[in-house]
Amino acid sequence: MKVSVVSRSGREIIKGGIDLSDNATVDDLKSSIHQRVKKYYPARQRLTLPQPGKGKPVVLERGKRLKDYFEKDEGKLVVVFKDLGPQVAYSTLFFWEYVGPLFIYPIFYYFPVYKYFGYPAERVIHPVQTYAMYYWCFHYAKRILETFFVHRFSHATSPLSNVFRNCCYYWTFGAVIAYFVNHPLYTPVSEKQIKIGFGLGIVCQVANFYCHILLRNLRIPGGKGGYQIPGGFLFNIVTCANYTTEIYQWLGFNIATQTVAGYTFLAVATFIMTNWALAKHRRLKKLFDGKDGRPKYPRRWVILPPFL
Ligand SMILES: NC(=O)c1ccc[n+]([C@@H]2O[C@H](COP(=O)([O-])OP(=O)(O)OC[C@H]3O[C@@H](n4cnc5c(N)ncnc54)[C@H](OP(=O)(O)O)[C@@H]3O)[C@@H](O)[C@H]2O)c1
Repeated sequence: MKVSVVSRSGREIIKGGIDLSDNATVDDLKSSIHQRVKKYYPARQRLTLPQPGKGKPVVLERGKRLKDYFEKDEGKLVVVFKDLGPQVAYSTLFFWEYVGPLFIYPIFYYFPVYKYFGYPAERVIHPVQTYAMYYWCFHYAKRILETFFVHRFSHATSPLSNVFRNCCYYWTFGAVIAYFVNHPLYTPVSEKQIKIGFGLGIVCQVANFYCHILLRNLRIPGGKGGYQIPGGFLFNIVTCANYTTEIYQWLGFNIATQTVAGYTFLAVATFIMTNWALAKHRRLKKLFDGKDGRPKYPRRWVILPPFL
C-alpha cells in the first residue's frame, strides 16, 4: 500500500509517499518515516487521519494495523503528521523534577547559606527542622524510586520543554520552603502539633505508596498501558486516592513546620492535582459507561471526600 504523509496544511512530509506491505502497522509507518527523516524518531511523531471538518482527529495508535483505519480500499492512504518536538522518557522527566528538591533542601539545612542573606553563619537547629529535612528527603527519594520501580506509564515520552517547566515548579518551591523552614529566625510550633503533623504525614506517605502499588497492579508488564477501574483500599471510595494521600501528607508536613511557603505549595499542588483528578475521573466514567458489555464506573469521590 502507498501512504502519503502530509502536514496539517497539506504539505508532503515524505516526498513521493511511503510503500508498505498490506499488513503494515502504525509502528511500521512511524519507523519508515524515521528512516527517511532521521530527526523524526517514532516518539516524536503524532499521526492522525485527515479531518475534513472541526472536531478531534483520530489518532493512529501503536500496534494497530493501518488497514483498520481506512474503511474503503483506497489506492493511496493519507495520514497527517505532527512533529511533537524533542521528547524525553517519562522516567527522565520525573527524575529531574524530584532530584532538585532532594538535593536543594539539605543545602539550607547543612550549609551556612544564611550568611549570604545577612544572618550570622552559626544558627540553632531545632529538632523539628531536622525531622522536616529527613521527611522531605524521604518523600522525594520515595518518588524517584517509585518512578523507576513502581509506576507503569502508558506514555513512553513527554516533550522536553516539560522538563524545564516542571523543574522550575519543583526546584523553586523546594528552595523557598527550605529557606523558610531552616531559617535562623524560625519559630517551631508546639511539640504536640509537630507530632500530629509528622504522624499524619508518615501515615499518608505509606498509604500513598500502597496506592501506587495498587495502580501498578492494574497494568501487566509490557502491556499496552490501557486504563482499568482502580479498586481496593482508598480507591474503593475515591478515584485518585494517590493524590488524596499526597495532599494529606503535605498537609501533615505543613502542620508540623507551619510556613506560608509550605502552605502555598500545598494550595498550588492541590489545585493542580484536583484538575488532573477531575480529568481522570471523567475519562474513567467515559471508558466504563456500562454500555455494550463494558462495566459501569462505580460512584466515587474524585479526590477529596467529603468535598469533591
Ligand atoms: N505534589 C505535587 O504537586 C504532585 C503532583 C502530581 C503528582 N504527585 C505525586 O506523584 C505521583 C504520580 O503522579 P501521576 O500524576 O503520574 O499519577 P497518576 O497519573 O495517577 O498515576 C500513576 C501511575 O498509575 C497509572 N494509572 C493511573 N490510573 C490508572 C488506571 N485507572 N489504570 C491503569 N493505570 C493507571 C498511571 O498511568 P499513565 O502513565 O497512563 O498516567 C501512572 O503510570 C502521585 O500519585 C503523587 O503522589 C505530586
